Amino acid sequence: MARIDPHSYFDTDQPRAKHVRLRWQVDFRTQQLIGDATLMFERPSSGQVDLDSKGLTIASVQTRTGHNVPYALGDDEPILGQRLQLQLPADTSEVTIAYHTSPEALALQWLDPAQTAGKRHPFLFSQCQAIHARTILPIQDTPRARVTYDAEVTVPEPLTAVMSAGPCGQRPAATGRTFAFAMPQPIPPYLLALAVGHLAARELGARSRIWAEPETVDAAAYEFADVEAMIERAESLFGPYEWERYDMLVLPPSFPYGGMENPRMTFLTPTVLAGDRSLVDVVAHELAHSWTGNLVTNATMEHFWLNEGFTTWAERRILTALHGEDVGVLAWAIGQQALDASVARFGVDSSLTRLRLQLQGIDPDDAFSSIPYEKGARFVVVLERMVGRERFDQFMRDYMHRFRFQSITSEEFLQFLDAQLPGTSGQVLAQQWLYETGMPPNAPVFTSEKLEELTALAQAWTAGKRPTAAQLQRWEPQEVLVFLQHLPRQLDHASLAWLEAQLRLTDRGNYEILVEWLTIAGGSDYEPVFGRIREVLTRVGRMKFLRPLFVALGKHARTQQLGREIYDAAKETYHSLSRRVIESTLAQWETT
Ligand code: BES
Ligand code: ZN
Repeated sequence: MARIDPHSYFDTDQPRAKHVRLRWQVDFRTQQLIGDATLMFERPSSGQVDLDSKGLTIASVQTRTGHNVPYALGDDEPILGQRLQLQLPADTSEVTIAYHTSPEALALQWLDPAQTAGKRHPFLFSQCQAIHARTILPIQDTPRARVTYDAEVTVPEPLTAVMSAGPCGQRPAATGRTFAFAMPQPIPPYLLALAVGHLAARELGARSRIWAEPETVDAAAYEFADVEAMIERAESLFGPYEWERYDMLVLPPSFPYGGMENPRMTFLTPTVLAGDRSLVDVVAHELAHSWTGNLVTNATMEHFWLNEGFTTWAERRILTALHGEDVGVLAWAIGQQALDASVARFGVDSSLTRLRLQLQGIDPDDAFSSIPYEKGARFVVVLERMVGRERFDQFMRDYMHRFRFQSITSEEFLQFLDAQLPGTSGQVLAQQWLYETGMPPNAPVFTSEKLEELTALAQAWTAGKRPTAAQLQRWEPQEVLVFLQHLPRQLDHASLAWLEAQLRLTDRGNYEILVEWLTIAGGSDYEPVFGRIREVLTRVGRMKFLRPLFVALGKHARTQQLGREIYDAAKETYHSLSRRVIESTLAQWETT
């Protein structure tokens, strides 16, 4: 027996599902997906197959000809869930599992109409990465076990279903409308995605459209109007786009991430709708995953840096190509702050600061941080600088070609590196980057005049020197963010009032700036922002924003009180992942 993923019961010696056919009724009343999943095997097979499942209620398991397949559900393990063990009769080419999901399925968030922009219809979205696909279907839930899929999803009128797949028509059904989908390219199960809501679409280009609630779709169309240029830029760097269409969906604000690279349908938080296109880096990032992540995937979450490190690097290559070196350097500086914060949160000696992780017994959601992103991307830059951009770009194209539609380990990457660019891994200290904690001595440095100016101004603040009003007025949003990030975490109230008067921070539509500001001001017990903090924390579920805001509120007795009150009022509207993150933050307050 060969288990290769600490987060899955998948066994390489057993028959492998190659295609999945889904039929789901989306029941908003009971908050369940009800239906069946048909797993089609590589070849007619027999014997034991171990699937992952979590919270699923299994009604029956049958072969194509209607024979019952013996099955057993194992104990409910906190991280893994329940093993669903099938005993395939001789020559079984497919099995159909009838089941329904639990209302607590971690991959799903069921929203009341009040949590949507339109306030009139409920909404459902999924988020399967890293190991939540098993809460919506029984499957070999490891990225190594790629599958193609098709689906028929029935939703109540007048709602629309979208998936991480191509649409294949729709038809009326007894309980509403059935939408059909097909995903012909093999994907890791974590890229399976569904959203259902009152949706409208706008065309952005020949292969892109944006989906959102009718109330937000025009703002979204404006924000992402330039996506085709971005795709073309990415293609010129990484080779042809392999997924036919690149559509995007803007979700309600409780979506716990900034973006999710569901193939053919990137999911986005509405907090990227800044109104001035200043947060399109999230789209560059999710788009880049179409190569680094969706084409070449991490074999398990222990190799997550292969996904996020390469994607963060690719995102910045795209942005630099489109907007220039200065913009790129500031993006690296913003990333450096995130990296430092994550390393500080875990501690520099923590094994979670390694790129290659050991996650036996560890929930990937608990291991999540900026380290695979930012340390990973810096390792890629070290390689790029060592061999030169031209050779490295060729290496990347070869890499993506060699491993397309596969899921690989850090060790497989190193082997490929050694074969293609002999000697390089030693020169860049690859062993240290991958297997040791903290940051290696050859971490790349990113500088520009602009960055130096901004950090110098922020540092001068402590000595009582303020930038001139003229300087402040000229800053682009990204420059304001870098400046704020380099200010002390707590400021006196006169300074805060001055910053607010100069930069009008509390009313910003750019959430990166807004939350950075509210973190400083809230952490300084500055009452004028309390109302805005309450507004943000009640509306937005993106973990990247919730965590620092709650941490800031923990610094003073009065703001702790405020934080607890807000959390009690808002927790029902948070995604269960967000709830977990906040509860662990609040738990730390008790002890201080
Ligand atoms: N794939 C991630 C989101 C994710 C990671 C979900 C792990 C669940 C588990 C996505 O590509 C991502 O990194 N999103 C970032 C965007 C940012 C880096 C531009 C986010 O959500 O903030
Ligand atoms: Zn990513």
